[in-house]
Amino acid sequence: MSKTIIISNRLPLQLHIDNKIVTSTPSVGGLATGMKPVHAANDSIWIGWNGVNEEEIDDSIKAKIDSTLLAHKCLGVSLTKKEVDEYYYGFSNTTLWPLFHYFLEYTEFEKHTWETYQVVNQKFANVILDTVESGDRIWIHDYQLLLVPNLIRKKRSDVSIGFFLHIPFPSYEVFRTIPCREALLQGMLGADLLGFHTYDYERHFLSSVQRILGYDSSFNTITLDNRSVKVDSFPMGIDYDNFHESAKLHNAKEKRDKSIIQQGLDKHQLDNDQAKLILSIDRLDYTKGIDKRLRAFEYFLEKYPEFKGKVRLVMLAVPSRAKVPQYQRLKKEIDQLVGRINGKFAEISWTPIWYFYRSLPFENLIDLYTSSEVALLTPIRDGMNLVAKEYIASKVDKKGVLILSEMTGAANEMSEALLINPNNFEEIADTLKLALEMPEKEQIKRNSALQKRLKRYNVDKWATDFMEALKSSTHHDKRYTLQ
Ligand code: ADP
Ligand code: G6P
Repeated sequence: MSKTIIISNRLPLQLHIDNKIVTSTPSVGGLATGMKPVHAANDSIWIGWNGVNEEEIDDSIKAKIDSTLLAHKCLGVSLTKKEVDEYYYGFSNTTLWPLFHYFLEYTEFEKHTWETYQVVNQKFANVILDTVESGDRIWIHDYQLLLVPNLIRKKRSDVSIGFFLHIPFPSYEVFRTIPCREALLQGMLGADLLGFHTYDYERHFLSSVQRILGYDSSFNTITLDNRSVKVDSFPMGIDYDNFHESAKLHNAKEKRDKSIIQQGLDKHQLDNDQAKLILSIDRLDYTKGIDKRLRAFEYFLEKYPEFKGKVRLVMLAVPSRAKVPQYQRLKKEIDQLVGRINGKFAEISWTPIWYFYRSLPFENLIDLYTSSEVALLTPIRDGMNLVAKEYIASKVDKKGVLILSEMTGAANEMSEALLINPNNFEEIADTLKLALEMPEKEQIKRNSALQKRLKRYNVDKWATDFMEALKSSTHHDKRYTLQ
């Protein structure tokens, strides 16, 4: 029987090795959290980097790692420290990530990291080629593996290959700046189906293919010499029922003190705390606009001092890619900003910002979603932003206001949220006031519409739509021609 093979750099579980004992925790990030229910419900194998440096483990640990992964239907790809440094921290996260998010000033291009990226993409392809059987469906994910579709296609014409990009595809003017632009596009075009979160990303991709490789497209289909590739947009949803039902189990008011105390805060700080909570949750990443959010919040307190003592920004940031210098600099900047703003406004009985730099278990995330009156999400660029969707899904009583950057993929589907430009502090400050004063009736009206849509276009629907489209765009009989 044919199977689905999922491939991504990050597996859904992160391994920890301590004293020769291997344990695991769930991975954080849109790709891993989004694909998890898809993997759980299907006959699938998930192939990804096992997360450890090859030379730091012996055979017995390697066997433990493999069996832990297998228990979750996962197969690990082993990488050396040099490969991790150059492929993951280097080309993926110092070249492609900033470039695709329009941070040209952070984008570095180095020949050796590009070479290692090619070697590692081939490693992933080899693990797939060892596993794949005729008729299987291969679903490759994200910017770390742009070359893999073509590496598989060169060897197998009897399998379906789908590729989904979880981050924006930039406009041609930005994409054209990367020296290896032809190779990246050729790599992606090995797929039968290419999926993007939004129509804009799809359009940018088609325009790059046309202007760089000279392939035209019509009706979402790129015609190669004697093969065609389908391109479409599939906005990713969330596991709506999981968030909604889990939130039901949490009585927000009762849990509020408990979970935050668990995070190590002083109980006395919380007693009689009546401040409205403004929540933000993201990986600590410069694309998320965390610094702008803080500055906008500072401006809000200056412009509307009547809110001092009555609101609090609860800011959760998950450590991410901490070896990349830009992320280290950002961490320092955020620490300083939080300190400065708290120092400027704090009173004995009130601290304006609670900042947590850590990952949280699912129950605590739900607790924060349900307990906060407002969510303030301000990415400068974001492929989708699942946190926005999770926040709304968790509002069982439909009360709460989402303020969302218009630069996120999610904003396209969430017009009932209060959409803001993350660079416009005036607008953010005014919108915060509007959100904090919004009548409950209005909140319920907006969130009812949002919930209905999120429930219908959930992650299952996203995966099913993609798989159906893959089925209908695969033609094994056509010969392959890309080099
Ligand atoms: P990205 O993919 O860029 O990280 P998304 O908002 O699309 O951004 O996805 C982030 C995912 O990571 C969400 O599913 C969210 O629930 C999860 N997440 C974010 N912060 C935390 C945290 N502190 N602890 C645990 N999970 C988190
Ligand atoms: C984004 C990317 C994913 C990545 C995730 C977490 O969602 O699209 O591919 O897995 O961030 O980043 P990390 O580098 O920790 O895998």
